[in-house]
Amino acid sequence: MTVARKIDDIMTQSSWIRKMFEEGARLKAEHGAGNVFDFSLGNPNLPPPEKFNEILRDTVDSCGLGDHCYMPQAGYPQVCVSIAEYLTEEQGVAMTCDEIIMTCGAAGALNVIFKALLDPGDEVLTPTPCFVEYRFYADNHGGVLKMVETKSDFTLNLDALEEGITAKTKIVLINSPNNPTGQIYDQASLDALGNLLQRKSGEFGHIIYLVSDEPYRKIVFDDARVPSIFQSYGQSVLATSYSKDISIPGERIGFAAVNPGATCKRELMAGMALTNRILGFVNAPALMQRVVACMQGMSVDINEYKRKRDLLCDGLADAGYDFTTPPGAFYLFPRTPIEDDVTFVKELQKELILVVPGSGFAGPGHFRIAFCVEDQTIVKALPGFKRVMQKYN
Ligand SMILES: Cc1ncc(COP(=O)(O)O)c(C=O)c1O
Repeated sequence: MTVARKIDDIMTQSSWIRKMFEEGARLKAEHGAGNVFDFSLGNPNLPPPEKFNEILRDTVDSCGLGDHCYMPQAGYPQVCVSIAEYLTEEQGVAMTCDEIIMTCGAAGALNVIFKALLDPGDEVLTPTPCFVEYRFYADNHGGVLKMVETKSDFTLNLDALEEGITAKTKIVLINSPNNPTGQIYDQASLDALGNLLQRKSGEFGHIIYLVSDEPYRKIVFDDARVPSIFQSYGQSVLATSYSKDISIPGERIGFAAVNPGATCKRELMAGMALTNRILGFVNAPALMQRVVACMQGMSVDINEYKRKRDLLCDGLADAGYDFTTPPGAFYLFPRTPIEDDVTFVKELQKELILVVPGSGFAGPGHFRIAFCVEDQTIVKALPGFKRVMQKYN
């Protein structure tokens, strides 16, 4: 066998996901991409804010000697200063550049954090449904992903979390607004989680860290807000990126931020600078660091995503689908009318609609619709969604 056993296992286990993508590619080749309604990927369809191109051009024009060189592993100090200033406002906690490390997206941030924190066999506990890659990120560093269910509206189930914490739990990982549900965890539940982790850390005699993965923080609708974990729990670390809110996932830029009040902040920051290097990232992309430093607080027009959400939710409610309206992100996670979500998704494929079964996110009995698509894709797909639902009524 050429490929390592573990990688081969992963490829085999996720083969049905691959089959779905292959089926999608086949449908597009047969019917033309324009006639297939592809809601399978969380790839933002809005262009970056206009300012992005302007700042990018100015940044390139102002590049001088040394501006493409290696730098401190945590990133350019001036960039970290800009981010710390912005976070001080956003998080309501005074931050300095010493608490920020620039990374290759939120995925890079999570891997840097996990490698710095996990010993072999340590557990990472996360509520489900969850982002499909978490299992691999934990495993990359010898950790084991453990999952606990959320409530039926996908909010945190504190009792389940308490039951899931063991002597091996090193990290509790949350993601709000959530992929795939769009749910946001409110202040009261984060405060309760903070209290729980403090109590359990005392009980087990080691710090249990709270890691919050927040690349969708700015994509919230109506009067929803995403509370700060820094205010709820001292031993917390934030992982985020500019991938979704300014639509630049291909540029691989994000950061990790450690709570200024964390007990072992200095060791953790030094550890993360090292892991950024030895994971092979070395440092986050130089040009993009300088660009995002000038884009603090900016985002694409969130009303565009809200309009798409409403269009989709109104249409699916009318067709008889059952779902929790997402207050954030650009995903809807409806319940399937039959238990077998893979079969249901295949029925949707017959209508040339591509979505992802909930099983892929440890949320069976559901499916994920990524609505970061053209309005027309939603409008044209709605009759197909309706016809499939009618088969089960
Ligand atoms: C919940 C979640 N975390 C992390 C990531 C990775 O983001 P990035 O592209 O910034 O690495 C994604 C991307 O889809 C995501 O949905």
